[in-house]
Amino acid sequence: MFETLKSQPADKILALMQAFRDDPRTAKIDLGVGVYRNAEGVTPVMRAVKAAEHRLWQEQTTKAYVGLAGDPAFADAMIRLILNNSVPRENIAAAATPGGTGAVRQAFEMIRLANPDARIFVSDPTWPNHLSILQYLGMEAVAYRYFDDSTGGVDFDGMMADLQGAKKGDVVLLHGCCHNPTGANLNTVEWQAVIDLLNDTGAVPMIDIAYQGFGDGLEADAQPTRMVASQVPECLIAASCSKNFGIYRERTGLLMAVSQDAGATAMNQGTLAFLNRQNYSFPPDHGARLVTMILNDSALRADWMSELEEVRRSMLALREQLAGELQRLTGSDRFGFLAQHRGMFSRLGTTPELVEKLRVDHGIYMVGDSRMNIAGLNRDTVPVLARAIVDAGV
Ligand code: LMR
Repeated sequence: MFETLKSQPADKILALMQAFRDDPRTAKIDLGVGVYRNAEGVTPVMRAVKAAEHRLWQEQTTKAYVGLAGDPAFADAMIRLILNNSVPRENIAAAATPGGTGAVRQAFEMIRLANPDARIFVSDPTWPNHLSILQYLGMEAVAYRYFDDSTGGVDFDGMMADLQGAKKGDVVLLHGCCHNPTGANLNTVEWQAVIDLLNDTGAVPMIDIAYQGFGDGLEADAQPTRMVASQVPECLIAASCSKNFGIYRERTGLLMAVSQDAGATAMNQGTLAFLNRQNYSFPPDHGARLVTMILNDSALRADWMSELEEVRRSMLALREQLAGELQRLTGSDRFGFLAQHRGMFSRLGTTPELVEKLRVDHGIYMVGDSRMNIAGLNRDTVPVLARAIVDAGV
């Protein structure tokens, strides 16, 4: 029967990762997959994670199953981190998932269960896997304008105009912070306008928050999610611990279903547990346990926060260096948006042909839509990239 299988489209981010590995040149620069790397090009295990693992190894006495929604202590700790006390705890159903992607997938499945005809409004552009999973699930994606190539900022008027088309029964997918792939984000006034529009149309927001702490700081990055969750009747929040705890391969995420009606929480919680059971039964525990230990221990938490802040500041410094270097080489502020963007990514705003030229001529790998992982740079490679961008005629 397997002869009937058709080959599936390659994920463009993961295909790029492989192409970089296969390139024999030594002076190559990987700005592809969204994994943090320090100045030495290493993705380190964070100090607090190492310490928590050590403690866990000494103290853990069983690997027996925990629960279909994972350990409630993990949900509690993550809810405090993301929502703080903006929403009463009894209004939130939550389940651990295998990474942020697991949370996104489960969120889409929950939407489909509730309304098989729901349309999911997604930013143009969005993380390619959002679209891929929606297509796989047979759900309709509707693009809303988001990025303005000419300014490197958000096309807010276009976004609002397109979101007018979302109706009750539809879902609007928003990136909580550090928009992937563009790096361009809404300001507080714009977030409020989106929330008001959602409340007018009755569409339900779904927030994907995978980079909390990478933009303007842990608290500032969570602010839009808190505003949304406290002001709309219901929403979904898919959170990832991959980046801010640096535990990518441990697959640690959380899906929250928030309702202003606490009476809905039991049904939402039961649905999340059911969906986990159908897809993979119990969610992974190791990463979730580390996160819980770190968030609940004041010393580990302080150390984690300070290392995360170093990571955030190093990416900001690289952004400023790159924007400054391009300013010097071009004599214009054309690339000033790179310093305004936040998070791991920036969209350069150039053609696939020039992205290809950067790869072939300079060994610089970025996603075809010109998304660059800023953390793939260091102080020495920033001038190399800037020079290549100018030489390629971007
Ligand atoms: C990315 O956007 O590069 C990351 O979220 C990694 C992935 O799984 O695509």
